[in-house]
Amino acid sequence: MQLVQLSDLHFGSLFKQDTFDLAVEEVNRLKPEAVIITGDLTDDGLLVQFERARRELKRLECPNIIVLAGNHDYRHTGYLLFKKFFPSKQVYEIGDAVILTLGTARPDRDEGEVGYRQNLWMEKTFSKYSDRTKIVAMHHHLIGIPDTGTDKIIILDAGDTLRTCLHSKVDLVLCGHKHRPWAWNLGPLEIAYAGTASSERFRGFFENCYNIVNVKKGAKPQVDIKIVGGKRFALSELVESYRPFLEA
Ligand SMILES: [Fe+2]
Ligand SMILES: [Fe+2]
Repeated sequence: MQLVQLSDLHFGSLFKQDTFDLAVEEVNRLKPEAVIITGDLTDDGLLVQFERARRELKRLECPNIIVLAGNHDYRHTGYLLFKKFFPSKQVYEIGDAVILTLGTARPDRDEGEVGYRQNLWMEKTFSKYSDRTKIVAMHHHLIGIPDTGTDKIIILDAGDTLRTCLHSKVDLVLCGHKHRPWAWNLGPLEIAYAGTASSERFRGFFENCYNIVNVKKGAKPQVDIKIVGGKRFALSELVESYRPFLEA
């Protein structure tokens, strides 16, 4: 089963329509079981941006479009609009996988958190599943990654959430937020970060991209990065080949 993680589309001033059009074409050709959009659909949480985002996302030909909010979507009372434009569930059973979405964005704040209630809910919910690949999708970072600056980008309760994920035997966490594709492999748990699929807001990696996740029963999910209009390769290769200091 194939899933696609699109992130940080940022409909607004630095949005790249041509790149988005190409990304939609590519994703439709992949025929994924689900497209997971890990937040920051809009630049400023404005009505006109939500209208455009909803209109454009209708072009994705996929039975399961999973959308979660980012900090940019919650600006200017965008948190009120987000629910109207993208009403969504928190649990998705798709093929051999169960996908939980965590709301980490808070109104008019850039930092994120999962919170005690959601952590408790995640642990309880995952305890009902033993034979499925467990995936968590959230906007903010669970653990810090290179080129992303301050610790404000990590959820405030990262320790609690990481413990819950490990205790619940989560296989894969998908994050967006800082537009820096990356991956951490913590043994049984992999954390994959997506870049921006369609915005000029680059950081550390200067191509628009998205992630493709292959889920196979009983095996670790495999995450590839796909450059929009370019090549596809294992996300781990990007991590292993990064030499910011030696090549400076
Ligand atoms: Fe973003
Ligand atoms: Fe963000």
